[in-house]
Amino acid sequence: MAQTYAAKYLLKAAASAPRDLINAYVATFRPIHPTVVIFHCTFVCDARCEMCSNWQRGDRKSDMSLEDIDRVFSSGLWKNIEIANLSGGEPTTRNDMVEIARVMLDRLPRLRKFGINTTGLTPHRAIPMVTKVAELCHERGIIFSTRVSIDGVGEMHNDVRQVKNGFEKANETIRAMQALQKRLPFNFGISTTIFNKNLDDAENILAWAKKEHLDIVFNMVRFTEPMLGNSELAATCKPIGKEEERMHDFFLERVRMDPLLDGQNYVYMHYADMIANGYHRLAPCPFQTQGIMLNPDGGLFFCENSDVVGNVLHEDAEEIYFREASQHHREAIRDEKCPTCLSPCQMNVSAVKQVVPYVKFLLRATQEKRKSGHPDLSSVPVP
Ligand SMILES: C[S@@+](CC[C@H](N)C(=O)[O-])C[C@H]1O[C@@H](n2cnc3c(N)ncnc32)[C@H](O)[C@@H]1O
Ligand code: SF4
Ligand code: SF4
Repeated sequence: MAQTYAAKYLLKAAASAPRDLINAYVATFRPIHPTVVIFHCTFVCDARCEMCSNWQRGDRKSDMSLEDIDRVFSSGLWKNIEIANLSGGEPTTRNDMVEIARVMLDRLPRLRKFGINTTGLTPHRAIPMVTKVAELCHERGIIFSTRVSIDGVGEMHNDVRQVKNGFEKANETIRAMQALQKRLPFNFGISTTIFNKNLDDAENILAWAKKEHLDIVFNMVRFTEPMLGNSELAATCKPIGKEEERMHDFFLERVRMDPLLDGQNYVYMHYADMIANGYHRLAPCPFQTQGIMLNPDGGLFFCENSDVVGNVLHEDAEEIYFREASQHHREAIRDEKCPTCLSPCQMNVSAVKQVVPYVKFLLRATQEKRKSGHPDLSSVPVP
């Protein structure tokens, strides 16, 4: 079933390629409607992670209500959204999470891929909720992807997330998702954020994921106020010196060892490059011209390094997005933030659509593989 689903995914991506090329071209001389959205539906959380501060600012009273969300997503701004991600905080802490997902699936006419990130730490809520969303996507022919966050094996995960028995709880959700995959097609895996605390556990997590047949993506720790509320954590969580070197080697090793056409490979090369070159970004980012981020209180941002450009509870989202002051801010982001930005958000999606940087990446990744004696070009994993 996984292979068929992968084929369907690639087919959909290929079908959108001509429109992607036109979008990318048009976006070079005028603002276009966004095609990618991240919606943080709450910052309330069921964990207290050491590398993220969303749990500290979670406040149910300032979260938009379901009615607000329905009204907000009826704006013309969203008409071209193809990829939507529901995140937080922990989305499953909202009793109406399934209804929020339904609003997005129904209000985004061009949607082709919907994703949810979850801690999986409250299985009796996460399992039925995510199952329902997988069903809704399946009924609508929308690709569904979900990942459970795992930051260590056993006690390391409990320590990072500061949740007693967190690893066992997350595993209950993981097992339920693996069982669900036998009934419904969707992309499932785990997501691991590497920072100074769990860096030494990275290989261990990778080995465990392989043993459990889990697709795994690694995030390199980053610091962003609008998305993670954690700029002050750089002082305690950022790997420096030898640790940073180990982080570099770990990501480069992934490029050398993992299948060349794995979308994540491009992100790992980006991390390794950034560490090696003193944080000069070489990689493209869809948020520069066609991304948007919405926070629980209605604050609208161009990306995780944007200032808030308006509040969708008080003004129409489309009006906020296209007005001159907002577009000036986007130019400022491109000039001031992008050159040193680590964000991988949907980068692998934009990568395959931007031919020149992607071909350059393939050449470099192939060289890295040759150097390491692993010139494997054969397998294409589930996206
Ligand atoms: C902010 S969380 C929200 C969803 C959910 N609460 C969870 O933890 O999966 C989304 C993803 O961001 C990752 N993350 C957390 N802190 C991070 C950081 N400082 N840098 C990069 N990624 C981070 C998490 O591990 C998770 O995979
Ligand atoms: S990473 Fe996820 S679970 Fe952890 S504090 Fe941030 S939002 Fe909450
Ligand atoms: S600042 Fe980062 S996330 Fe924002 S558009 Fe630039 S590269 Fe993308």
